[in-house]
Amino acid sequence: MFKQYFPIFKNQEDLVYLDSAATTLKPAVLLQSLEGYYENYTANVHRGLYPNAEKVTEEFDQARTVVANLINANSNEIVFTHNATDALNTIALALDSQQLQGRKVLISESEHHSNLVVWQEFAKRNKLELCIVEYAENWEQDLLDQIDDSVALLGLSLMSNVTGLRPQSLDKIMKKASGSKVITVLDACQSIVHQQDDVKALNCDFLVFSAHKLYGPTGLGILYIKSNLMQLLNPVRFGGGMVEDVQRSQSSYLEGPMKFEAGTPNIAAVLAFAKVLEFLREISFEKIYIYELELAKYLHQQLSQLSGFKVLGGLQSVRTLYALDFDMVHSHDLAYGLGMKNICVRAGQHCTNPLHASLDSRASLRVSLGMYNTCEDIDKFVLELKKVLNFFKK
Ligand code: ALA
Repeated sequence: MFKQYFPIFKNQEDLVYLDSAATTLKPAVLLQSLEGYYENYTANVHRGLYPNAEKVTEEFDQARTVVANLINANSNEIVFTHNATDALNTIALALDSQQLQGRKVLISESEHHSNLVVWQEFAKRNKLELCIVEYAENWEQDLLDQIDDSVALLGLSLMSNVTGLRPQSLDKIMKKASGSKVITVLDACQSIVHQQDDVKALNCDFLVFSAHKLYGPTGLGILYIKSNLMQLLNPVRFGGGMVEDVQRSQSSYLEGPMKFEAGTPNIAAVLAFAKVLEFLREISFEKIYIYELELAKYLHQQLSQLSGFKVLGGLQSVRTLYALDFDMVHSHDLAYGLGMKNICVRAGQHCTNPLHASLDSRASLRVSLGMYNTCEDIDKFVLELKKVLNFFKK
């Protein structure tokens, strides 16, 4: 239904792309925007006074509003970073100044490495205890039980890149965290493409995601910082673009998001991402999600008819992403075999080694859906998967 918008399928008609959780394919509107900027009006942003530079500055500032609208933020709460990991690192560096020593950092065991390793280092630097809630059936209750005034910061993803699940008790978790004055950092990297959360309703302090998992360009991360923290926190990278006044031995810095955007940003990516978001809004995010849910139901149905594997996080609920661990064949062999048929899935531990260890899985084969997928893609995947399994079992 939406395949027509993605030029890669004109170049590779047989492509079955089921790795959207790693990165999504790119719509024509993105390529047109990149080409337009580089071919027709290249200029730096927030610097030049000539018409091309003014056009770039205007589009860049407008892009901040387009991104902000996606999550019901204000444009002065949106920082452009290099990727979501960079956004998480920026948060941690900015919080180094906040005298949180002696308290705890609380995260779940299902976090992606980027929402784990950053906090390991942050906890070490600031002498905090890192508490990781084990991934068990009632992990959300365990997490809730651990939230109190001793917790300085809670890091949580809105959708796991392995189980595909969203925390069911998210509202309760967020309410308890804000009641206990816990700084909340939400990772929306996997969820944002399916469900665009409202930062005001969630009442989170920070939220991050990357453009490339939302049909946008690589090299662009989005960092939402609640306005009171935006005012309070100091810049962590220094140079041009973030200064207000510079003297020989000291400088003062801009207020708002630009204080976190030292140097020339990824202008082409920012402009193109805004165009992608406008394109998706025109189609309707809701319509896309309804379509994805239909596909997810079909995938769930097909997987339910197979055997010889476990699903990380269980197969009870319908979702757009499943990680499968097969009894007899390593996921790398399966992914390689499927790749030979131009069926793209991810294999391994997907940057979640602790979660895989906890689920007693050496590695898994992850299949994840995007708006361009069809039921035929799922049929081809299942058919070829069976063939590869048979080949390796012989
Ligand atoms: N974080 C991305 C994934 O889960 C790269 O594949």
